[in-house]
Amino acid sequence: MLLLHWQQYKSDKLNFITCLTFKAGLFSMAEELLKLQNIYKNFGNVKVLKDVNIKINKGEVVALIGDNGAGKSTLIKVITGVHSPNSGKVFFKEKEVQIKSVAQSRKMGIEAVYQERALCDQQELYRNIFAGREITNSFGFLDIKKQRKEAEKILRDYIGFTSKAITVDSQVMGLSGGEKQGVAFGRSLYFNSDLIVLDEPTMGLSIQETEKVLNFVKGLKNENKSAIFIDHNIIHVYGAADRFIILDRGEVVGEFNKEDISREELVQKMIQLHESGKIKVED
Ligand SMILES: Nc1ncnc2c1ncn2[C@@H]1O[C@H](COP(=O)(O)OP(=O)(O)O)[C@@H](O)[C@H]1O
Ligand SMILES: [Mg+2]
Repeated sequence: MLLLHWQQYKSDKLNFITCLTFKAGLFSMAEELLKLQNIYKNFGNVKVLKDVNIKINKGEVVALIGDNGAGKSTLIKVITGVHSPNSGKVFFKEKEVQIKSVAQSRKMGIEAVYQERALCDQQELYRNIFAGREITNSFGFLDIKKQRKEAEKILRDYIGFTSKAITVDSQVMGLSGGEKQGVAFGRSLYFNSDLIVLDEPTMGLSIQETEKVLNFVKGLKNENKSAIFIDHNIIHVYGAADRFIILDRGEVVGEFNKEDISREELVQKMIQLHESGKIKVED
């Protein structure tokens, strides 16, 4: 009897260890790309981000959702170096970093695709593509010829522009919303960015253009790239993201993996939050 117990204990222990090892294996598969720890951001007296803790793994698409004014854009501006947090830590590829400018975040492998201001309107395409990552020659001078040549490659090979009307010297101003997004995506592919940040990328786009954007976001996973994106349309969000982070008045109030929540439940949570100012996270 005692022996039986012992054997049972041994087998349980083994199971326990196997289980632990398996779980550890699973955890190591989810490789962390970006971590924000205890981030606070104030504008004057207004506390816009309050103790925000989020993580984005490699190969993961995360949607940031919440009402207008919740702090979504501010949060991603902290990630892209537009704003510096008042306090808190940022880790990229498990190293603590201080992202002080957009140029710096780009160099690190973070590419922002904003609906507004993604591209500087009165600039030629080739300049825009290399803004902050200019190609220089061995004397340290701008190599315009090479930039134009590479931009040509990006337009044709990465973005697939076939229109003769768009050249590397075209002004960004003349492009449609979808084409502007295309340029930003091409840029992120060319520079092999690890994290793509998209703030309302489908706003003002046609249905076809919207589909292209969402397919681009979904496709990033296959390349082990990550994305964090904001979109008002919960149908877009649900289709494209693996995880949803809900922000309310500067705080993370809920976080769900897609496999744990249906689209309808997610919609319900947002309605609940909107009506009562609270979210029931436990179910
Ligand atoms: N540069 C700024 N200066 C002052 N207040 C700002 C600035 N940017 C955003 N805010 C304020 O921070 C809050 C959150 O804004 P934002 O991050 O744009 O929200 P969301 O993107 O979720 O709609 C709002 O109250 C907004 O007015
Ligand atoms: Mg916003």
